[in-house]
Amino acid sequence: MTSSSAPAGAHAALPNQEPVVRMQGVTKRIGKRTIIDNLTLDVPPGEVFGFLGPNGSGKTTTIRMMVGLMKLSQGEILIRNHSISRDYEKAIRHVGAIVENPEMYKYLTGYQNLLHFARMIPGITRQRIDEVVQLVGLNARIHDKVKTYSLGMRQRLGVAQAIMHKPSLLILDEPTNGLDPAGIRELRDYLRLLAIEEGITVFVSSHLLSEMELMCDRVAIIQSGKLIDVRPMRQQQMETDLSKVFFEVDQPQTALEVLEGTGAALEGNHVVFLGNRENIAACNAQLVQAGIKVYGIRQQIKTLEDQFLEVTGGERIV
Ligand SMILES: Nc1ncnc2c1ncn2[C@@H]1O[C@H](COP(=O)(O)OP(=O)(O)OP(=O)(O)O)[C@@H](O)[C@H]1O
Ligand SMILES: [Mg+2]
Repeated sequence: MTSSSAPAGAHAALPNQEPVVRMQGVTKRIGKRTIIDNLTLDVPPGEVFGFLGPNGSGKTTTIRMMVGLMKLSQGEILIRNHSISRDYEKAIRHVGAIVENPEMYKYLTGYQNLLHFARMIPGITRQRIDEVVQLVGLNARIHDKVKTYSLGMRQRLGVAQAIMHKPSLLILDEPTNGLDPAGIRELRDYLRLLAIEEGITVFVSSHLLSEMELMCDRVAIIQSGKLIDVRPMRQQQMETDLSKVFFEVDQPQTALEVLEGTGAALEGNHVVFLGNRENIAACNAQLVQAGIKVYGIRQQIKTLEDQFLEVTGGERIV
């Protein structure tokens, strides 16, 4: 199902960097079980934000609460500062979502489906429909019947429908399920495009670490209904984070002497130390000044999986 029923133009530039979504102490109990346990999380604007957790960790439950399909037992979810529980209409206006399978009429074309949904939303123009078709890359097939579409194409059509009213937030529950690697790659590309071109914040869940790493600016990790961690992805981390750095040089022993005091050591023929980007530049300059030839510098970046294993003490997520 989709929940997109708001006037066109609901999206406007956000003042400052206020979070698009604020979850505060969100808790869901069903019977005696606590399915979601005191989840507090901010989703910054303009990002592709990942919600990562193994099967049964509570991703769908959280998303159902975010779009008002399920009541919270406790806590608060604010979307663009409107409470989904107390001010549903105002909050949901900013949301486009595909939570379960998007409902499409198989015997109509993609375009006819979009027209049909557009009629239910005041202010959607044909130009806007063309725009969303373009954004999700469905131009070539939009006038074919939906029954001839692949899974990936149906999903694009679902996304096109969900963003027609220009929401500030697009929520997708496990959008890569069932897609082949090419489909996943395409999804990744157009989600990024949506974030850049339309300024949409994308909230996307997955149980696959490797996908999240490629797709997202930031990832929240949940396990058994509890938030374990929120991590920016590598680009943002590299600036300050320490990583293991390998220097390939012509005189390793001399290089080690030059770098005395930096904690450098020899590993095989490489000089190795822990440093950030600035340290790397400084060490390189020192080596070159000392007449040492630097053939290569390699940084060992921690993957999200490494980080995840650190955080959880070794419990694997996939
Ligand atoms: N209506 C319900 N009644 C009882 N338990 C439920 C209900 N809905 C979900 N649960 C339980 O809540 C937990 C979280 O389920 P949820 O579907 O949110 O997980 P998920 O992270 O989306 O998993 P998956 O990756 O398999 O989609 C599971 O243990 C599930 O059995
Ligand atoms: Mg789920």
